[in-house]
Amino acid sequence: MKPPFFPRPSGRAALVPSVLAADFACLKGSLAPIKKLADWVQVDVMDGHFVPNISFGPGIVPFVAAASGLPVDAHLMVEEPGRFLAAFAAAGARLITVHAEAKLAGACVKKIKAMGLGAGLALRPGTPLKLVLPHLRDLDLILIMTVEPGFGGQAFMPEMLPKVKAARKLIDASGRGIWLQADGGINARTAEAAAGAGADSLVIGSALFSAENPAAFLRGLRKRL
Ligand code: DX5
Repeated sequence: MKPPFFPRPSGRAALVPSVLAADFACLKGSLAPIKKLADWVQVDVMDGHFVPNISFGPGIVPFVAAASGLPVDAHLMVEEPGRFLAAFAAAGARLITVHAEAKLAGACVKKIKAMGLGAGLALRPGTPLKLVLPHLRDLDLILIMTVEPGFGGQAFMPEMLPKVKAARKLIDASGRGIWLQADGGINARTAEAAAGAGADSLVIGSALFSAENPAAFLRGLRKRL
């Protein structure tokens, strides 16, 4: 698939459920009700080294894709992402995001592109935006973490908004259709703040899957953004 790898909704930010917060006893039950309301889904991969938590590996990607009927982006919060790129590509991820702080991040971005997938680069809250500059021409997505990576259900960090705004300026100046993704603590209120700062892809985990009616939550968000 040609860039931007995911359908770009008109007039609103893309909504990207994070399956980290889904019900793993019934993935289909979690994802089927929202498939027509979300734009793609994110698999949050954690290795227990880069972040103090372990989640899942490439094996989950086909199940998430089948249960949601949506394309998958894999957010690798792992120390050595280069070891896993081929497995996530084979599993069917459409875009793979590595962290700028991880080993050989730049080489990983190039390898992801060489495999014909979208390449994302993620920044922890404490990592300056300038780390994306050397890779800008290769990137399809920049992920600004609005929580410390490792766990869902954390509070949004409003101090990340200036970084989102600066990333928006950088992307617009680059003239490339790079997605600007905000991830962490996104709910109805913080979604507006993140989108208002220029994010055009919002990763939503606990606020979505803990909602009484997740489909209604997404419908409401689509109207608000
Ligand atoms: C943190 C994860 C979470 C997740 C979203 O490492 O990346 O940000 O995707 O979880 P919520 O929406 O619950 O913050």
